[in-house]
Amino acid sequence: ANFIALIPAAGTGSRIGEAVPKQYLSLVGKPMIYHALHALYHTVRITRIGVVLAPDDADWERYDWSRFDDKLMVMRCGGATRAESVTNGLRSLRVSGSIHDQDWILVHDAARPGLSVTLIERLLDQLAEDEVGGLLAIPLADTLKRANSDNRVARTEPRERLWQAQTPQMFRAALLLNALQNAPEGITDDASAVEATGRLPRLVMGDAYNFKVTYPQDMALAALVLQEK
Ligand code: CTP
Ligand code: MG
Repeated sequence: ANFIALIPAAGTGSRIGEAVPKQYLSLVGKPMIYHALHALYHTVRITRIGVVLAPDDADWERYDWSRFDDKLMVMRCGGATRAESVTNGLRSLRVSGSIHDQDWILVHDAARPGLSVTLIERLLDQLAEDEVGGLLAIPLADTLKRANSDNRVARTEPRERLWQAQTPQMFRAALLLNALQNAPEGITDDASAVEATGRLPRLVMGDAYNFKVTYPQDMALAALVLQEK
């Protein structure tokens, strides 16, 4: 089986609220998506990287991506939700003969620029022989409060065994596509679709640098993380 990365990058970044989609916001001199692409590209076992853009994306072509050419496949088939973008990307890779049913697909958010080769290799090492697949995640650090409708604390939730999901999330191509095609509405990651089929994805330790850039304040943190590297 091959290891194939798929980067959904068809969102608009509404919560960050910039004129340009957030995957193109500049971080240490490169568009955000460059950083995850770079880590995936430099992971030797990953032989191909699909990037899913919005059909009307006007930013991708403003940059030179040629250094990634030997692994890169750009697809303008993004949908209305992340799940749709991933589904369309998988279908497109399959139609072009670029993936086979048993290949491992590593789906990674364009908006997680702090991904490292070390984390990717940990995921590959821990899951390559797994029955189901799984995802990077980190144990929750904060105390959790359940609110009532009035923003008062109804109760404190036990934090034990709660993890924050990250990406990459890694599943076999056929299993993932089938799970996504039958997934409930409103899912926000790939593992949820697999969970809905009754399977139990494995959690692999991620790290805090691999957080998702979602709000404006996250940009400064991401820049610090990338300066460190
Ligand atoms: N994504 C996608 N297609 C969509 C929505 C999201 O490919 N229709 C991608 C985003 O580009 C991002 C990843 O999924 O890389 C995670 O989504 P999120 O952080 O929610 O990004 P946006 O949807 O762009 O941001 P927002 O929800 O704030 O609008
Ligand atoms: Mg979104």
